[in-house]
Amino acid sequence: MVTIRAEILSDVPAREALLNAAFGVQRFRKTSEKLRRGRLPAEGLAFSAVDARGTLIGTVRLWNIIAGSAGQAVLLGPLAVDCKAQGQGLGAALMAHALAEAKRLGHAAVLLVGDASYYSRFGFSEGHTGSLQFPGPVERARFLGLELVKGAFDGAEGLITASGRVLEAAKKVA
Ligand SMILES: CC(C)(COP(=O)(O)OP(=O)(O)OC[C@H]1O[C@@H](n2cnc3c(N)ncnc32)[C@H](O)[C@@H]1OP(=O)(O)O)[C@@H](O)C(=O)NCCC(=O)NCCS
Repeated sequence: MVTIRAEILSDVPAREALLNAAFGVQRFRKTSEKLRRGRLPAEGLAFSAVDARGTLIGTVRLWNIIAGSAGQAVLLGPLAVDCKAQGQGLGAALMAHALAEAKRLGHAAVLLVGDASYYSRFGFSEGHTGSLQFPGPVERARFLGLELVKGAFDGAEGLITASGRVLEAAKKVA
């Protein structure tokens, strides 16, 4: 039995180990990381999948951004599933859960950088991102968008910037 639930602080070491295994430490050099570094994930949008023993086997988080003229949006990623649990629908379940929660929380538009061959099944397409600029090198074919509210990307252009809660501020509040 697998449970998808909000990420908790004690998930962090296992989450980081899973992400290192999935993407390697070079993940920190990705342009997407610029939009995440020093920020907290969007409120209520960090999820862990855990097996019956409580072992973390999947992770997905979303981050507040400004998508140029489209305004407030969220950046999805990284998404990863433990290699021993892949191919059983957990990636799809994490995506469905994360997107449903993002919509419920009022987000209208989601961006990510990833394989279109995987993410197109959730409705992501290159079509929404054509006039948006990523803040660094990105393969255009991997820069994908999904409208949670129809028309959210209409006429969208301009630079993607980070707008999430800053980590230091969060520490002071806690
Ligand atoms: C991508 C990933 C999250 C999918 O997790 P999962 O639990 O195996 O996903 P699901 O079981 O829901 O879906 C499996 C399907 O996705 C396909 N798939 C997996 N990775 C894919 C990719 N990069 N491109 C296209 N299809 C892919 C599988 O071939 C399988 O296809 P099928 O349904 O026709 O058999 C997982 O493979 C993973 O963590 N990979 C390493 C990290 C990564 O690449 N993350 C995504 C980029 S940000």
